[in-house]
Amino acid sequence: MRKTASGGMGSLGIFFITFLLLVLAACAVLYFTVLDPRPSEKKVVYDFLDPGDKVRTSVSAKADAAFSGGVLMFPFQTAADYLGLKQSGNHTERTYYLGQTEYITFSTKDTAADVNGQSFELSAAPRFVGDELWIPLEFVEGYLRGISLTVTDGHVRVRRDEYNASTKDSPLYVDVTALIHADTPLAAQTAAGGEERSAPSVEEEEYLTDISAYLAYIEPADADAYLILVNRSSTIDRSYVPSPLVNIVDSRSDRTERMVETAEKALEALYIEMRAAGYTDVSVTSGYRSYEKQEYLYNLYTEKEMKAGISRAEAEKIVDTYSARPGTSEHQTGLCCDMHNLPSADQRFAEKDVYGWLVENAHKFGFILRFPEGKEEITGYEFEPWHYRFVGRKHATEIYRRGLCLEEYLDELK
Ligand code: DAL
Ligand code: ZN
Repeated sequence: MRKTASGGMGSLGIFFITFLLLVLAACAVLYFTVLDPRPSEKKVVYDFLDPGDKVRTSVSAKADAAFSGGVLMFPFQTAADYLGLKQSGNHTERTYYLGQTEYITFSTKDTAADVNGQSFELSAAPRFVGDELWIPLEFVEGYLRGISLTVTDGHVRVRRDEYNASTKDSPLYVDVTALIHADTPLAAQTAAGGEERSAPSVEEEEYLTDISAYLAYIEPADADAYLILVNRSSTIDRSYVPSPLVNIVDSRSDRTERMVETAEKALEALYIEMRAAGYTDVSVTSGYRSYEKQEYLYNLYTEKEMKAGISRAEAEKIVDTYSARPGTSEHQTGLCCDMHNLPSADQRFAEKDVYGWLVENAHKFGFILRFPEGKEEITGYEFEPWHYRFVGRKHATEIYRRGLCLEEYLDELK
């Protein structure tokens, strides 16, 4: 009886121990696969994506490289190559340039980055691992425009922002810019560290920056030569090509636009002043356009309007309110440009603070808003808050002060 009883207790014991072991094994599997508390064995993958989410470059880092004191880091050197940023420096301090005027300097000796001359505190110090510069991911996520991150557990997807998602094969990318601006504007820093200033101009007190080097362009001696009128009734010859045409320094980074040199230099001064006022994201999207280019654009817009099922004549009636026909656009003079900070020219630009700044300051650099609101009947076009025309400071100031459009001003001069 006792023997039988003790044999019964033995099988129960074995069963109990086996059950306990199975529970422990299940817990271990759960612990090491799902809950995994060992960050050093977990990986973070950073995929840099091309259109269609095709992976162009991928960086994979173990958690002890991807995190610094609990802060998720980001491989910025790979990002700079992906974005095509110019750079200078070494493995201790490196500067990356965003377009013509913005820059970011990271130093492995400092938890602050220098963004456009302004110190910005980082939550972890940048560090080099081989040739890769790791910086806190939150900086890229929060303070760079033109690049977007999608962060899921262990996976960071990096994309560039596009102007127009429909141009899949050759996308137009938004400029990469920093959302931190200098207390001391770049222009002022350059002026302070540069050559001695020349004598101030009569109206210099109206400017934040030193315009003396640009004054001969802003206020050209032959001012009346810049009053050329091109519109529906005052047309321009098909063969007319202005000269000298030069590249516009502040063109949008995905294109090269040109303008007559005097107007372009005056525009450079306007941009220096605009940046000093804190506005850094406006760029020129269109400058000189040949007769053929204008013809192409006019036809393109017409075809687009016709997609609504209307006739060519009806479509042209609509296009005539916002685009000049070839031979009637002042873009062919090389004296005007379209500039804004939107993916494409849009009346919503008028809601931006920088538009207010342009309206109040463009004349100081010889530019006028060419198609103002309320003058549609006279100019023949809808309000274009992005289109500015160079006429030189003397005429621009007069036009601005008296609230005229170019047609009205020229009529009065006659
Ligand atoms: N958008 C202006 C009117 C032009 O095409 O010249
Ligand atoms: Zn225009």
